[in-house]
Amino acid sequence: LIALVSSSAFPQGHVDDHELAQMLPCDWVRWDDDTVDWSKYELAVVRSVWDYPLRRDAFLSWSRTPVRVVNPHPVLSWNTDKRYLAQVARAGLPVVPTTFIVPGHALSPPKGDFVVKPSVSMGGLDAARFGPEEHDRASQHLAAIHRTGRTALMQPYMASVDRDGETNIVYIAGKYSHAVRKEPMLVQGADALSNIAGSFAVSATEPSVSERTIADRTIRWLSELFGTLLYARVDLMTGPSGTPLITELELTDPLLSFRFAPGAAERFASELIAQLQGARIPARA
Ligand SMILES: Nc1ncnc2c1ncn2[C@@H]1O[C@H](COP(=O)(O)OP(=O)(O)O)[C@@H](O)[C@H]1O
Ligand SMILES: [Mg+2]
Repeated sequence: LIALVSSSAFPQGHVDDHELAQMLPCDWVRWDDDTVDWSKYELAVVRSVWDYPLRRDAFLSWSRTPVRVVNPHPVLSWNTDKRYLAQVARAGLPVVPTTFIVPGHALSPPKGDFVVKPSVSMGGLDAARFGPEEHDRASQHLAAIHRTGRTALMQPYMASVDRDGETNIVYIAGKYSHAVRKEPMLVQGADALSNIAGSFAVSATEPSVSERTIADRTIRWLSELFGTLLYARVDLMTGPSGTPLITELELTDPLLSFRFAPGAAERFASELIAQLQGARIPARA
């Protein structure tokens, strides 16, 4: 039996995962439900756990449960704080230029529009876009993030997103599966986003050759770090020089957009069934 792991706002998971759920012997289970006997599950697959940003420690300690969790705890621990982007850049992969601002430090914005967002976040929560004349408003937003003890990221706003959106490339068990285009989420002059998980527009797309090359390289690098990941989503935006840049690696709770990719939910399900069978083989002493 498989636990598909969700949260109180999505007790039966996100609609995008429903086709997958129908193909599996599974229950939807909230990660923070104290009444759950996790030992009845052979695998816990992290899905719509979209309330962890403000409770990251509790979520990470849950992910150390004796039940096998995928993606596993070390991946979740690394991936739930965007400070990993510095390591991705050091590995020579192209990343959206990112400055980390820890509490106590001030903003020195780049020229043009820029984004300030918490390093622990998802679904655009507390992300906001500012114009060059909005230094004060941006500093107030930074201060609000810092007041809650969080580190912030500042990035130039990738103008291409307004026209082309971003490209999300999904890999299942280390193999390319499909890609979607996601519409822009941040409007200049608007307040920071509050939790809107799942409410943005996506559509099927075919990644360009350079997007595919960068995403493939990223997945190879990740598998050297962590072994083959059951699921991974590489999110790319086009930089000012026209090359794709990594904006984030979604290894925790990505919407995988199965609805836009015929066959993808089946691929994911058969990979899980294979892992279930593997899980039954007793470990060698
Ligand atoms: N540097 C940026 N340039 C353009 N848009 C951005 C940038 N950073 C974030 N965004 C917008 O905000 C959304 C949420 O930010 P993202 O970095 O994907 O964090 P998360 O999905 O973890 O909340 C993105 O999908 C994108 O629309
Ligand atoms: Mg994102």
